[in-house]
Formats: sequence, structure tokens, C-alpha cells
Amino acid sequence: MATITVTFQLNGKTTALAVEPLTTLRTALREHLHLHATKAGCGQGGCGSCTVLVDGEPILSCLLPVALVEGQSVTTLEGIGGPGELHPLQAAFYDHFAAQCGYCTSGMILAAKALLDRNPTPSREEIMEALSGNLCRCTGYLPIIEAIEDAARQMEAVV
Ligand code: FES
Ligand code: FES
Repeated sequence: MATITVTFQLNGKTTALAVEPLTTLRTALREHLHLHATKAGCGQGGCGSCTVLVDGEPILSCLLPVALVEGQSVTTLEGIGGPGELHPLQAAFYDHFAAQCGYCTSGMILAAKALLDRNPTPSREEIMEALSGNLCRCTGYLPIIEAIEDAARQMEAVV
């Protein structure tokens, strides 16, 4: 099948990728670019485990053809921090035991980052609303919410 070339910013770096036209962003990230923090869950828009940020907004990458991110900025969990330089949300998830199997964690953290970027002091209800598309089968959600509240406090303290 013919391929198309898609060029976008990925975690701050210009990335050009030759893919079949209907390749999803999730497949492009995981299978072509080998960034596996973005999880392959339901593939139907129902779980949120594939959430990434496109121009700062949380997007379900399993539903988005990668061609549609041409010229846009894509951020995955790998792009916000890593070992030795954790983002406050990553550190708070660790501190609050907010990841068990970890399958939802990438999507949860990116959905939370989008929230804190637009609303640095969200209420618990606003956090729950922001996470409403992200399912967790392990934690019961409370450790995740507490981690996000803690990260918000820490990020406010350094502003
Ligand atoms: S894998 Fe995309 S919403 Fe479940
Ligand atoms: S930690 Fe397992 S699904 Fe959330």
C-alpha cells in the first residue's frame, strides 16, 4: 500500500514518518517510533490508556489517524520526564502508590497534566471530571486523585 509522510513535533523534536494513510497515532508511536508508554488498550475510545497530548489537549491516540497531527505538537509520557528527572505528576504517582499494573498511568498523567496546565488549582471534582475518560481497574482512583492534588500543590509552590 502507498505510504504518506507525516511531519510533526514529537516531545519537542521534529519527526517525519512514512506510514500507511490510516495508521493511528497510537500505532505510529508504539510500533513505528517505539515509544511504549502510550498503551494499547481497548482500541475503541473507551479506556483512555492511549491518551497523549496534541497541542496540549488530551487526545485518544487509538482513534486519531496520525496524518491528522501533521504540523502539530504531540507529547507522550516520555516527553514530560523520566528517570532522574521526573515530572511532579510522575513523582507524585510514585509517592502515592497511584500506579499498580500501570496500564492506565500514562494516560492518567497526561490527562492530569493537561488539566493542571490550564487550571493549576483544580478542585477534586474538576480532577474527577478531567479523568472521566480514563479507566483504572486497580487503584480505586483515590490514590490517583490524591497524587494529582499533591502534584498541583508542589507545582504551585515553585511558581
Ligand atoms: S486504547 Fe484508546 S481509548 Fe482505549
Ligand atoms: S493501575 Fe492498573 S489500570 Fe490503573
